[in-house]
Amino acid sequence: MSIPRRSSVIRWRLDIFSRGLLFSRVCPAASAKNLRVALLLAIESSCDETAVAIIRGHTGEAAEVVASEISSQIPLHREHGGVVPELASRNHSLHLRGLVEKALSDARVTMEDIDAFAATTGPGLASSLLIGSTAAKGMACAMKRPFLGINHLEGHLLSPFLDRTTVPPHIALIVSGGHTLLLDVTGPGSYRKLGSTRDDAAGEAYDKVGKMLGLPYPGGPEIEKAALGGNPKAYDFPRSMLHEPHLDFSFSGLKTAVLYTLQKETGELPVADLAASFQQAVIEILVKKTLRAARQAGRKQIALSGGVSLNKALRNAFFAAGQSAGVEISVAPPVFCTDNAAMIAFAALLRHLAGESSALDGDIHPNLPLV
Ligand code: KG4
Ligand code: ZN
Repeated sequence: MSIPRRSSVIRWRLDIFSRGLLFSRVCPAASAKNLRVALLLAIESSCDETAVAIIRGHTGEAAEVVASEISSQIPLHREHGGVVPELASRNHSLHLRGLVEKALSDARVTMEDIDAFAATTGPGLASSLLIGSTAAKGMACAMKRPFLGINHLEGHLLSPFLDRTTVPPHIALIVSGGHTLLLDVTGPGSYRKLGSTRDDAAGEAYDKVGKMLGLPYPGGPEIEKAALGGNPKAYDFPRSMLHEPHLDFSFSGLKTAVLYTLQKETGELPVADLAASFQQAVIEILVKKTLRAARQAGRKQIALSGGVSLNKALRNAFFAAGQSAGVEISVAPPVFCTDNAAMIAFAALLRHLAGESSALDGDIHPNLPLV
């Protein structure tokens, strides 16, 4: 096992986490290994959530998330109006060990019982990715178990199937703060890109428009709340690229249209109407393009994932459109829509059961593409 890079950091982590073993409970689930059930511990630290999860699974059976811990940094970044990378990585370091101990304790297992360790290795903030991946590598090294580096987007993509035995062929729409990605999925690891955003991601547009409207960070959930009391037809915002034949998206024109509209407003801002009209435009673009993709690819199933898929108005619009088109819509439970480690653990589990692992000297990749 060679560790050519960052060896001192890894040694430090080894020390931290081997000392952490002392705090773990004695394992009542030692028989798990005899049954050859794979137990994986995964870390997610690509942005502003520090998360640790433990998943249990076996080929052909639905996986079981036995622990899922999340320490959100949203209140910390809120006062800066967005994510501050230095603060994010510092807080991952501060909270990670406690979350690992809590996850082991909740799952009633010890480090010894873990068959493989995984972490998000990209895309994301470099300094944040390094914390989680170095910790997971350190634990894998100390426990002489495999390490799996997971693409954050694959975690999101697979999250709607966390409680299923298979990942069926489907159209995947990943809508998060950093990505808007449309894919044709034939199965785990088999992805074909159909379209993506040419400028802002859908979540990014929500966050920027939220800021313009004077709402707290992140704008997504705040706009959803504000929109409940507004008229979605109050403003006729552009549906960019909706009628173009390709499956790419563009949200920056919509964002600018909101800006110009509110610059013209005199008096009190009609926040609810602006939020509802903006949200209506985003929903229409996402729903129509995704259903078109399903029609073109001949798929009868669509899966939504990523933070924006938490939005109830978006979900309902997809359910209604899916029903009239005869297409099944799958969405992850709300707790697994925004960044979490259970989705990373699930992606790692599928790869582990398929016999895959990653090199310990593999790097993090802030711009790692999915396809
Ligand atoms: O998946 P995620 O937690 O992190 C990334 O991978 O980016 O997504 C975060 C994004 C943010 O832009 C946030 O505003 C958006 O998801 N979001 C929402 C809602 N909840 C979170 N957007 C619209 N409606 C929501 N309810
Ligand atoms: Zn994410």
